Amino acid sequence: METKKESILFTPANIGPVTLRNRTIRSAAFEGMCPGNSPSQQLKDYHLSVAEGGVGMTTLAYASVTRNGLSFPRQLWMRPEIVPALRDITDAIHATGAKASIQLGHCGNMSHKSTAGETPISASGRFNIYSPTPVRKMREDEIIAMSRSFGDAVRLARDSGMDCVEIHAGHGYLISQFLSPYTNHRRDRWGGSLDNRMRFMRMCLEEVMKAAGSDMGVVVKTNMRDGFKGGMEIDDALTVAREIERAGVHAIVLSGGFVSKAPMYVMRGEMPIKALTHY
Ligand SMILES: Cc1cc2nc3c(=O)[nH]c(=O)nc-3n(C[C@H](O)[C@H](O)[C@H](O)COP(=O)(O)O)c2cc1C
Repeated sequence: METKKESILFTPANIGPVTLRNRTIRSAAFEGMCPGNSPSQQLKDYHLSVAEGGVGMTTLAYASVTRNGLSFPRQLWMRPEIVPALRDITDAIHATGAKASIQLGHCGNMSHKSTAGETPISASGRFNIYSPTPVRKMREDEIIAMSRSFGDAVRLARDSGMDCVEIHAGHGYLISQFLSPYTNHRRDRWGGSLDNRMRFMRMCLEEVMKAAGSDMGVVVKTNMRDGFKGGMEIDDALTVAREIERAGVHAIVLSGGFVSKAPMYVMRGEMPIKALTHY
């Protein structure tokens, strides 16, 4: 049987300097396949199967830029020693004609001391009931160093052969925790007005764009709504999107939800109260 391929979906598209063979992208969804916070054969096989299936690009999910940004034990942590294993994965993906991307983020207050190696950090120091964990407010020097860690992670992604990076600025993780009035209660230049709350994201994106240079694609995932009263709403989200565009980013992934307050909004569903009560 002949497969119909006239749809625009199957035509090439660019993300900045990177040309995809078609417009399908395997979006970042945490695989949980990285014991010891390092790539595994299982992770390689998984993304290779997606690439062989014909997507334009596949995205390795939810890699943390630093150890203290890890939510889970089986999550990628960007560091020089994992570059050869990541290179092995991107080589395999490229051999199919697909492109490779990696999502880079920091979970902020969505962790535990045992995983993060220290008390989880965030824009403000309030207790995170969802995790649950006490949280330490970041100092100014730590905020600046963290933005550089985003740049360092992009350089490691480049060394690993990634064509694109996707910066996670949504879902209530660290950048989102600075953007949202729900988690940012600072009274210094990193909090208060939306312009101040965007300062950390702006700095991260500046470092990311510098590190990405002229040959990597840069995508940012951001919230249209945090998904609850007291979170970021659509008007602020539009200002954030314009700021992301101003940074020179090549594409935006529109999403929503906040894992510590509206987790099911991320999944676009209702809280499965019946099932939760049952189990
Ligand atoms: C099992 C699972 C894991 C997910 N992991 C991630 C992730 O690592 N990073 C991310 O940005 N989104 C993750 N998501 C969210 C999805 O990528 C997507 O944003 C969500 O399903 C809602 O779609 P939307 O963003 O188009 O609203 C995950 C979703 C599921 C169901």
